[in-house]
Amino acid sequence: MKIFIVCLFFATSLFAKNTGFSDEVLSLFLHKDDSKVAGRLLPTNAFSILESDGARVKVKVDGFVNPKAPYVLYLNDSQRIIVAAFSKNTQLKFTRRVAGKNGKWDKVSIEVWTDKKEFAKNNKEMLARAKTLYAENCGICHTAHKTQEFTANQWPSTFRSMVDRTGIDKKDRWLVIEYLQKNAKDFKETK
Ligand code: HEC
Repeated sequence: MKIFIVCLFFATSLFAKNTGFSDEVLSLFLHKDDSKVAGRLLPTNAFSILESDGARVKVKVDGFVNPKAPYVLYLNDSQRIIVAAFSKNTQLKFTRRVAGKNGKWDKVSIEVWTDKKEFAKNNKEMLARAKTLYAENCGICHTAHKTQEFTANQWPSTFRSMVDRTGIDKKDRWLVIEYLQKNAKDFKETK
């Protein structure tokens, strides 16, 4: 009996630590059976897999929201590095919300659903792939600009103004943007 309880404990604690990553944009749904996409989770960002039901999994996403527009979750409390974005004015029910101090954004968690698939256990390989995509595509006409040349907030528009001159696939564009922002000159780790 004791052994069974110990096993059960390990099984549940392992499950609780089930962190996933995706190298492509994931559709998010507010409820398990919704067909309407409520938002998108962007590549390279961690999420916790809470439960699996049919073709969907319930995931917990952590991030920071600007109280004036609390339908975009960012990676940290002040830079526009998007983790997940929902349609404008979606009423999100946060499972946790800690108010930010001195104008910093609020720390939140949200539980939503996405389609079940094989998720990566970490984002190392996808970030390496993004780095190669960037170097190979953005270093053709001029030397590839160093990622530290721009701030996290500058990279999305800088990248978008050039990307149509490259062969970077539509489905990889957010992956490369996230890589650039996470290596920007002012990038700060989440606290
Ligand atoms: C087909 C050639 C070509 C490719 C591919 C290319 N660029 Fe450029 N890039 C240029 C040219 C030409 C300029 C000079 C300004 C202009 O024409 O807009 C430039 C300028 C820039 C600048 C300087 C802009 C400024 O205002 O200082 C940056 C930054 C830049 N590119 C980033 C990138 C990134 C990031 C990529 C990959 C997504 C990329 N480039 C791919 C041709 C290219």
